[in-house]
Amino acid sequence: MTHQEKKPLLQVTDLHIEFHDHGQPETAVEDFDLTLYEGEIVGIVGESGSGKSMSALAIAGLLSRRAMMTRRGEILFDGHNLLTCDRKTLRSYQGDEIAMIFQEPMTSLNPLLRIGPQVEECLKIHHPEIGKEERRKRALTIMEQVGLRDTETLYRMYPHELSGGMRQRIMIAAAMIAEPRILIADEPTTALDVTIQAKIVRLLRKINEVAHTSILFISHDLSLVAQLCHRVIVMKQGRIVEEGRIEEIFEHPKDVYTKELIDAIPKVAL
Ligand SMILES: Nc1ncnc2c1ncn2[C@@H]1O[C@H](COP(=O)(O)OP(=O)(O)OP(=O)(O)O)[C@@H](O)[C@H]1O
Ligand SMILES: [Mg+2]
Repeated sequence: MTHQEKKPLLQVTDLHIEFHDHGQPETAVEDFDLTLYEGEIVGIVGESGSGKSMSALAIAGLLSRRAMMTRRGEILFDGHNLLTCDRKTLRSYQGDEIAMIFQEPMTSLNPLLRIGPQVEECLKIHHPEIGKEERRKRALTIMEQVGLRDTETLYRMYPHELSGGMRQRIMIAAAMIAEPRILIADEPTTALDVTIQAKIVRLLRKINEVAHTSILFISHDLSLVAQLCHRVIVMKQGRIVEEGRIEEIFEHPKDVYTKELIDAIPKVAL
C-alpha cells in the first residue's frame, strides 16, 4: 500500500508559532505543514534556531501555552486539534499516544529516582489498571527490547550511574512502554559519540519495524536522517524550504540550503 492510500495519523496544517513573553512577538515557526502516516519515519533537518524543536514541542503538546502563541494552524490527531482541545484530552495523548525523547536524557530523567519507576511512569499515569508486578515486568521487558542487559540491576540504579548511551536507551524505553503511535525524537543522538549514535539510530529503525511506530526524527545531521528516515523536511528560519522522499532530496535538491547540507556531509558517509 502506498502512503497516499493510507490515512494520515497526524496532520499539521499552517502552523504558526510566536513568542510573546518579552515585549515584541517573535516568530519561531511559519507555515509549517506535516502529514505523518502510520509506520512512517519523517526527519526534520535544519540549522540551529530554524524552528525544529518548536514544531516538535507543539505537536507533543509540550509548548507552554503561556509563553507561546499559535497565530494559526491545526495539529490534527485522532480527530482532535491538539492546539485547541481541552487539557484533559491533550494529557490523555501525551506519553500514551505521542511520546517524546530529548537530546540530553539527564534533563528528562529525575536524578533522585531509580531507573525502574521512571521507565514505568507513563503506564502508572495512563494505565492505573495495570498492577505493580505487571508494570515491573513490562518495564524489564521493554528495557531488554531497547538492548539493555542485566535489567534487574539497572532497574534499581540511579540515572547518574549509567553511561550516556544507556540513559538514552532508558529514555527510549520510558517513551515506548505505553506503545505510543508517534515517537518524537529531538536530536536524540547529538550528545553521544558516533558509534553509540549509529546504535540508537538502528534501535529506532527496529522500533519502527517491529511496533510500526511513526517517528519524527529531528537532527542537524542530514546523513543520519538519510540512514533512518523515509521522508525529510528541511527547515530554515522558521519555514519549510523543502520536503520530499530521501532519494528525491539527495538526487534533486531544489533549495540552495538543502544543497549546502548535502555538500556538508563527508563523502565517506554517503
Ligand atoms: N522561549 C523563547 N522565547 C522566544 N523565542 C524563542 C524561545 N525559544 C525559542 N525561541 C526562538 O524560536 C526559534 C526556533 O527555535 P527552535 O528551538 O525551534 O530551533 P531549533 O531548530 O530546534 O534549533 P537547535 O538546532 O539549536 O535545537 C529560534 O529563533 C529561537 O530563538
Ligand atoms: Mg532544537
